[in-house]
Amino acid sequence: MTIGIHRLSFHTPAYYLDLDTLAQARGADPAKFHVGLGQDRMAIPPPDQDIVTLAANAALPILDELGPDHIDWCLFATESGVDQSKAAALFCHGLLGLPASCRCAEIKEACYGGTAALRLAAAIVAASPASRVLVLASDIARYDLASPGEPTQGAGAVAMLVAADPDLLVLEPSPGVHCEDIMDFWRPNYRTEALAEGHYSTRMYLTTLAEAYKAHQAATGHTLATFAHLACHMPFTRIAWKALARLARADGIPEPPPDAAEALLAPATLYNRLTGNTYAACLYEGLASLLDHAPAPLDGKTIGCFSYGSGCMAEFYAATVVPGYAAHLYTPLHRHLLADRVPLTYRQYEDIFQYGIPTDGADHIFAPYRGGPFRLATLSAHKRRYERRDP
Ligand code: COA
Repeated sequence: MTIGIHRLSFHTPAYYLDLDTLAQARGADPAKFHVGLGQDRMAIPPPDQDIVTLAANAALPILDELGPDHIDWCLFATESGVDQSKAAALFCHGLLGLPASCRCAEIKEACYGGTAALRLAAAIVAASPASRVLVLASDIARYDLASPGEPTQGAGAVAMLVAADPDLLVLEPSPGVHCEDIMDFWRPNYRTEALAEGHYSTRMYLTTLAEAYKAHQAATGHTLATFAHLACHMPFTRIAWKALARLARADGIPEPPPDAAEALLAPATLYNRLTGNTYAACLYEGLASLLDHAPAPLDGKTIGCFSYGSGCMAEFYAATVVPGYAAHLYTPLHRHLLADRVPLTYRQYEDIFQYGIPTDGADHIFAPYRGGPFRLATLSAHKRRYERRDP
């Protein structure tokens, strides 16, 4: 029996800010964002979309295709939770019509949360092979206006169905893990914007990548030559090129020339360039991008995956693409979603950024914006009410 990702669906808001627009507003050179950070656009959720609606919208194609049967866990990874007590998974349980026998819980460890949920899901399936676990990873990346992190903001969600003998990706044994207690990026409960020591965070990302890779290599003997492609956590996509350089150094080989590096890395970065950081969803958005865009069939190929969560957790693992995987992708949906988005002006971006909701229990009705079927409809007596809009 193998265990891994059976279905993978991605969702992002219907609005974006072009980083040319942001560069103009900030008096920055657009090349810093496009070339230096490797980002072109950042996804902006309108007021009636939050991590719950993004995740439910991501999961809908999977539920529509396979139904809720045998889904006995729903694990929701996020660092932008909407409630300190109730798991975001429970709102999705209701919206998606998951079975009453399905357990729901929320998981957090910065951008590593999606991988933590995936690992737990795999362990659940190993113990109970008929189980199917719906892993949702959904986040809204927010930094202070005009801060260094601002051009790396983003929003999006992935839904992964984890199962035995999966159709898409098999998780290979012996992931390499490295954990340290540090403060490189964090968001105290009283803040709505994250705080980052971005340069330190980048250094720790690369240092812990080397440690996790070393642990993975010691157990498997894998080298860069093992991998057809790499998919990395991407707070900004240019970091994947820095990661490759670090892996080459660990292998004791020269850095791959630009065209080889591009071939190895670029397919997994295309969606992230257009959405910005999606935190817990980021690596899995990258995997969706890779499966949707690989220039040659990936059947039987091994992918090197690196997950990093500030604070910090690092994990390097190998996943093998299942022959026939291409018949089980949602590529047209993903492409349509990204092609159909609406650009915002700088003023619209800032208005949405500053949009405040009552914190005193007053009634609030959310105007309908463009987006997926699920939306946040009202807030009343401190309770969120979601709805599915008519097609
Ligand atoms: N043309 C091309 N490249 C340019 C440029 C220009 N005009 N101006 C700058 N650059 C390059 C820089 O050389 C640098 O590349 P390098 O790192 O390969 O040298 C890159 O663009 C970024 O420039 P830098 O001056 O380092 O940017 P910054 O100080 O404003 O901050 C981050 C960059 C990434 C640190 C910042 O965006 C940040 O903190 N982001 C949040 C990231 C994070 O912590 N996420 C959570 C962890 S996952």
